[in-house]
Amino acid sequence: MFAPWQESYATGNPVLDTQHRKLIDMVEDLHRAFELGKSPETQLAILEEFISYLDIHENFELQLYPPQRTEQRTQHQMEHEKMHGLFHDLLKRTQQGGTGFHLQDIEDIRDILVDHICTEVTEFTTF
Ligand SMILES: [Fe+2]
Ligand SMILES: [Fe+2]
Repeated sequence: MFAPWQESYATGNPVLDTQHRKLIDMVEDLHRAFELGKSPETQLAILEEFISYLDIHENFELQLYPPQRTEQRTQHQMEHEKMHGLFHDLLKRTQQGGTGFHLQDIEDIRDILVDHICTEVTEFTTF
């Protein structure tokens, strides 16, 4: 598997973990589409869906912060914006290129997502 789920990714919040799993699955789907030589349109549609779901996930996640953690919440929100910027740039670049993703792009998406999840394991288990 290209992006296997690891037990160490679990935050203990069942909703959060289900959403993270779904995001990991979507990266796996993107990699599969790439390996099977699916059209650039199909590959781009998967990334677009991934970005939309990421948006839903992030909004849910930010609601978990209690009022006394406003500062951490703002910090986290800034990280999300940075992540979105990266994915949108990649989406635009791939749309313009017209040839689909490079393996390196999909590896980058996976690594950024895994990094996001691992940071949250520490962040949300301290609540
Ligand atoms: Fe997050
Ligand atoms: Fe998350």
